[in-house]
Amino acid sequence: MMMSEANATNLPSGMRSLVPVRTVAGLREAVRAWRTAGQSVALVPTMGAIHEGHLSLVHAARTRCDRVIVSLFVNPKQFGVTEDIDSYPADEARDADLLERTGADLLFAPPVGEVYPDGFVTTVTVSHLTEGLCGRFRPGHFAGVTTVVTKLLLQAAPDIAVFGEKDYQQLLVVRRLVRDLDIPVDIVGVPTVRESDGLAVSSRNVYLSPVERQAAPALFRTLTAVAGRVAGGSTDCAEACAWGEDALRAAGFGPIDYLAVCDAATLETLSRADRPARVFAAARLGKARLIDNVAVQRT
Ligand code: PAF
Repeated sequence: MMMSEANATNLPSGMRSLVPVRTVAGLREAVRAWRTAGQSVALVPTMGAIHEGHLSLVHAARTRCDRVIVSLFVNPKQFGVTEDIDSYPADEARDADLLERTGADLLFAPPVGEVYPDGFVTTVTVSHLTEGLCGRFRPGHFAGVTTVVTKLLLQAAPDIAVFGEKDYQQLLVVRRLVRDLDIPVDIVGVPTVRESDGLAVSSRNVYLSPVERQAAPALFRTLTAVAGRVAGGSTDCAEACAWGEDALRAAGFGPIDYLAVCDAATLETLSRADRPARVFAAARLGKARLIDNVAVQRT
């Protein structure tokens, strides 16, 4: 490993400079030094384009562990053939600065060849939970996510790993993955960060034109309204969702990939919200594909 990688993490706090660590060996050396000092370690996996949502994950990690690793890796395996990885927003220096100011101790930003060296042929898949919602519309996406998350967990061996509830399906899939594979890590879910008008903070919001940005909060408003309609467990969820889809189209969204009320633990589509449930949607607004979800309040 390069000495500068580990040294960057050993500087006293306040003088620390978040020099990206590029190798698995460098990451492991830093983690080993922290473990020797009896420190606990959190991992926050990201694809960069850091925003308030990511920073809330770093805050959550900081309050639970002595050391916080943020990984920054735009994972090619989770982008479909029609999804343009090259246009994914990227500014590593800006990200490093924000993360350092929020209390990250180490930025792990490996090149693609470090994560997927020549001859890499392994895929980690989680069935059932990945088949509905985004899984139906983004073939191969979750296999890409679970493969890279498994690698990151094995590379960093953290005590906890922190994920946002905005990608609620991803959060459940990762929880199942670590349970099924006995990976010794606690998966912590953090509530979605929203703009003052309710729009979930997302890297993809940069694709919205000013007019679309004005329309975008209709997604959260509609999900909240659908959740209100089905709360109590007696209203037909399909009817409420049909109403919600009309509301989204009226606000300028389309096509709508899905709007569904699902069991909050299994993601099974519900006809009545008679158990813990969430409302999920994914819909296009101009060039952006926005996703969001809200809990159905128990009455
Ligand atoms: O949520 C994301 O940003 C990505 O799916 C993740 C978890 C970093 C894996 O690439």
